[in-house]
Amino acid sequence: MASTSIGARALLELLGEWRDTGPSYEALAERIRLLVIDGRLLSGARLPAERNLAVQLGVSRTTVTAAYQRLREQGFAVSRQGSGTTTSLPASGTSPAPVGSGLLDFTKAALPAPSMMQDAVRLASEQVAPLLLDSGYDTVGLPVLREAIARRYTERGLATDPDEVLVTVGAQQAIALIARALVSRGDRVLIEVPTYPHAYDAIGAAGARIVTTSVSVESRHGWDMETYESVLRRTSPSIAYVMPDFQNPTGRSMTASVRRRLLEAAAAQGTIVIADETPAELDIDRRQTFPPLAAAPGSHVITIGSASKTMWGGLRVGWVRAERATIRRLHAVRATMDLGTPVLDQLVVAALFEDYDTVLAERRAALAAGRAAIERIVPDAFPDWSVPHVNGGLAAWVNIGAPVSSQLALAARSEGLLIAAGPRFGIDGAFERFLRMPLTASESQVERAVAALARAWPAAARHPLSEPGMLAAVV
Ligand SMILES: Cc1ncc(COP(=O)(O)O)c(C=O)c1O
Repeated sequence: MASTSIGARALLELLGEWRDTGPSYEALAERIRLLVIDGRLLSGARLPAERNLAVQLGVSRTTVTAAYQRLREQGFAVSRQGSGTTTSLPASGTSPAPVGSGLLDFTKAALPAPSMMQDAVRLASEQVAPLLLDSGYDTVGLPVLREAIARRYTERGLATDPDEVLVTVGAQQAIALIARALVSRGDRVLIEVPTYPHAYDAIGAAGARIVTTSVSVESRHGWDMETYESVLRRTSPSIAYVMPDFQNPTGRSMTASVRRRLLEAAAAQGTIVIADETPAELDIDRRQTFPPLAAAPGSHVITIGSASKTMWGGLRVGWVRAERATIRRLHAVRATMDLGTPVLDQLVVAALFEDYDTVLAERRAALAAGRAAIERIVPDAFPDWSVPHVNGGLAAWVNIGAPVSSQLALAARSEGLLIAAGPRFGIDGAFERFLRMPLTASESQVERAVAALARAWPAAARHPLSEPGMLAAVV
C-alpha cells in the first residue's frame, strides 16, 4: 500500500507548465520523473487515477496511460492490482548521488569542513570527560554552547541570554519544530519564493496553507514590499518565514527599509516573523552589515541559526533564539521529534565559536573563490545566461534564458551532474528559467559542472516549455 497519495489537482499544481514541443505522454512522464528525483513527489506516493488526471490536465486518458507506462518502464512507478500506480525510485535514480556513483553533486550549496575542524574535534574529545557521567540526552543544548551562541548574538547587536537559545539538530529541525509548535492545520503561512525547499516542505507538513510573495534577482530591491504588505494584510498569516540576509537561493539581502516595512506589516497583522538567518554570516563583500532582524525594537521575531553553513553540515547543529516562553513551548514539542542534540557535536561547535572570526574569514574566502569561478566559467560557456553578482551567501540564482531548467537538470544527470531544477525552489512549477549554482564548489568542480551542462543543453533546449506562468505567482 502507498503511504501517501496525491490528488489530480495537487499533481496538476506540482507539474506546472509541463508540456513541451514533444509528445505529451513523454513530457508528462519526464515531469513526473523529475518530481520524484528531486523529492517534490515522494517515492511510494499513489498517483491519481488515470481518468482523473486526464480530466485535470485536459488530455486524453491514453496520454496518461502511456505516461504511466513510460514511468513503469523506467522504474519510476509500479502498479499493483487494486492499489493503482505508485511512484518509485529505481536504484539508479536514488537521490542524492548513490554511493560511489561518481556524480558531481550540485544539489547541496554547502562547503566542506574548515581547516580548524580537526583541532576543534580534538579539543571537544578532551572536554567531553565530565559529560560522560551524565545520561547524554540533551534536549536544550549544552550551557557552554548556548552561552557562545548568546554571546555572538549580543556582539551582533541582539542582546541575548543563554536561556533564550534552544540548540537543535540543524536549522532544519528548528524550522520543523517551529512549524509543529506554532502552526495549526489550515493556518496561513507566508513564505518567499523562491525559497529553501525543505522549509517549505516542513511548513507544508504541519498542515499550513501556504501564501507566497516573491524575491527577485532582477528587481532593484529584491523584495516587492507593496505586494508583501498587501499579501500580509489580505491573508493575516500566523507566521511569515523569511531569510533577510543572503536569501537562499537568490543571494539577495533585505535593505533597511524592507526590514522595517516587513516588521511593521507583520506586527499590524499579529504575524510572527521567523527569520532564518542560517546564511546571514556568509558575507563576502556586502557593503552594509545588519544586526539580526530580531534586534529591531518591539519586533516579534523568532530567529533560526545554524552551524551548518558557517562551520560544517556534518555537525548537524542549529538553534532557535526566541523569548523564553517560546523556547519553553518549542522544548515541550521537541520530544515528539527527537531526544536531543549530540553532545560531542555541540562541543565541536562551541570550540569553533572560540575562534569564530577566523572560521568565518576562511568561509568567506572559499565563497569568494566559488563566486569568481561561477562568474568566469558560466558566462564563457553560456553567454546568454545571466549570472547575478551576489555579495554573499551560498548560491547564485542564474537565469538560463529559456524555460528548460527541469529538462536541463534531467539531462545533466545523464552527464554526471546532479543539480536541482529551478522549480525545486518554488511551487506550482515556477522558476523554469532559473538554475541555482552553488558558490561552495571549487573551480575544478565548476568547470566539470559547466561542461556537463553544456553537453546536456542542446537536448534540453530543444523542448522549451510553454511560456505562461513561469515566474513566481503571488497569491
Ligand atoms: C536557509 C536554510 N535554512 C536551513 C537550512 C538547513 O540547515 P541545517 O543543515 O542546519 O539543518 C539550510 C540548508 O541548506 C538553508 O539553506
